[in-house]
Amino acid sequence: MEKFTEPCMVDLPRIYDPRGNLTFIQNGDAVLPFTIERVYWTYDVPAGEERGGHSHHEGREMLVALGGSFCVNLFDGQRWQTFTLNRPYKALYIPPGYWRTLDNFSSGSVCMVLTSTHYTEDDYVRDFDEFLKLSRRDEA
Ligand code: TYD
Repeated sequence: MEKFTEPCMVDLPRIYDPRGNLTFIQNGDAVLPFTIERVYWTYDVPAGEERGGHSHHEGREMLVALGGSFCVNLFDGQRWQTFTLNRPYKALYIPPGYWRTLDNFSSGSVCMVLTSTHYTEDDYVRDFDEFLKLSRRDEA
């Protein structure tokens, strides 16, 4: 598989330290296939809640479970894949064109998202039927 053409887990650098470990990421690193334009994070997600439920036309994203754990379910129009994020030194890369939902949030979990775009609603597909139409068109 060519790197970063599909969703994949990425190992981030880890600096082990008896005082506590440290992980970092910066623009230009080989583990980051885009330039970071925006960072956001979700927290205080109630038990049983689901987030996400959209795809992006252009935006590329890296998700990291800074704390706790959650599942990321990805759909490319044909098959679903589920990734469990539960380590602050592992990132999930999501290319554009994948429908994603996030669920199974543990108590106190924090999902940090690094993105390649500024926030614009124009980059979102929030209707699943529209997503299906777009993914079928891409296959044609
Ligand atoms: P939303 O995209 O619905 O969250 P989810 O990731 O669960 O699908 O975002 C919730 C609200 O926050 C929505 O009104 C858009 C707003 N928002 C911003 O203003 N800036 C941002 O960077 C993001 C990610 C969301």
